[in-house]
Amino acid sequence: MRILVTGGAGFIGSHIVDAYINEGHEVSVIDNLSTGSRSNLNPAASFYHADIRDDVSAVIRDISPEIINHHAAQISISVSVENPAADAASNIIGTLNIIEAGLKAGLKKFIFASTGGAIYGAQDYFPVDEMHPLRPLSPYAVAKLSCEKYLYCYKYNFGLDYITLRYSNVYGPRQNPYGEAGVVAIFTNRLIKGGQPMINGDGLQTRDYLYVRDVVEANLKALRVNASGEFNISTGIETSVNELFSSLIRITGGDVNAAHGPAKKGEQLRSCLSYRKAQEILGWSPGVSIEEGLRNTVEWFLIKNGAA
Ligand SMILES: NC(=O)c1ccc[n+]([C@@H]2O[C@H](COP(=O)([O-])OP(=O)(O)OC[C@H]3O[C@@H](n4cnc5c(N)ncnc54)[C@H](O)[C@@H]3O)[C@@H](O)[C@H]2O)c1
Repeated sequence: MRILVTGGAGFIGSHIVDAYINEGHEVSVIDNLSTGSRSNLNPAASFYHADIRDDVSAVIRDISPEIINHHAAQISISVSVENPAADAASNIIGTLNIIEAGLKAGLKKFIFASTGGAIYGAQDYFPVDEMHPLRPLSPYAVAKLSCEKYLYCYKYNFGLDYITLRYSNVYGPRQNPYGEAGVVAIFTNRLIKGGQPMINGDGLQTRDYLYVRDVVEANLKALRVNASGEFNISTGIETSVNELFSSLIRITGGDVNAAHGPAKKGEQLRSCLSYRKAQEILGWSPGVSIEEGLRNTVEWFLIKNGAA
C-alpha cells in the first residue's frame, strides 16, 4: 500500500516507518524536523521536508496515499499551556490540512496518534476504558480530542475510515531525552552519563509505560482492521516513578540515590488504561514486559553514547 507517515523522522513515527517498509509498503514521510531527526529516517522512505501547518496539498497529491498515519505533532504539554494557538496550529489545523489534502488525493484510511495519558483527565476508575468521560486538562489534550471528533465527522460525511490510537506513556530507543516528557529517556540518559535524575515530588505518581515495539504492532494491526474508532493502546499496568527509578538503577548499574524535587503543579497522580477493546477489535495486546523494554532502551542509549 502507499502510506504517508507524518512525523516519520520522530521517535514513534520512525519506528512505524521501519515496520511498514519491512512489510513491503511504499512509504513516504512528511516531517519539519522540529523535534525529529534525519538520522531516524529510513533511507527506503521518500522524505518530504515540509510543515503540516502550511499548504501541503501538492506534496500529498504527489504521494497520493491510500493511508495516512499521522504522528506529526507539537508534543509538549507545557508549550500548549503557554501558547494554545501555536499548539492548535500544528495539532488541529495541521491535522485538518493533511486530511483535506488526503481526501482530494484518494485517501482511504487515517490512523491517528492520540493520547490516552492526557485525554481522560483525572480517572474515576483504573484501568480506564474508552467509555470513561473525556476531561482534557491541557490545550494539547483538547487538540487531540478535537481531531478525534473531526475524524468521526469525516467518517460520517465522506466515509473516511479512521483508527485513533490513544497511547499511554510510550518509551524506547530514539526517544528525545531533552524534552519535558519521556521520563524513561530522561532518567536513562542522565544515569548512563553519571548524572542525577530528579524525581518530581514523592515519586508515587504512576503511569502506564508502553514499549515502542508494541506501539508499532498496534499501527500494523490498524492497517488491516476493517473498523473505525478509538482504541486505548497500553499495558493496563501502573508503575510509579520510584519503581521506574529503581529498575533503571539496577539495569544501568548506577549508584546514585533517589533525589526528589518539588512536585509538578497540577501533575496527574495516576494513569492506567485498559486495552481490552484493542484486544477484541484490533487483535492487539502488549507483548513486551517493562523489564525487557527498559533493558532494550538502556542498551540503545549506551550504544548511542558510545559506551557499549
Ligand atoms: N511519546 C508518547 O508517550 C506519546 C503518547 C501519546 C501520544 N503521542 C503522540 O505520538 C506522536 C509522536 O510523538 P513522539 O513521542 O514520537 O514525538 P516526536 O517529537 O519524536 O515526533 C513528532 C514528529 O513530528 C514532527 N513535527 C512536529 N511538528 C510538525 C509540523 N508542524 N509539521 C511537520 N512535522 C512536524 C517532528 O519533527 C517529529 O519528527 C505525536 O502525535 C504525539 O502527540 C506520543
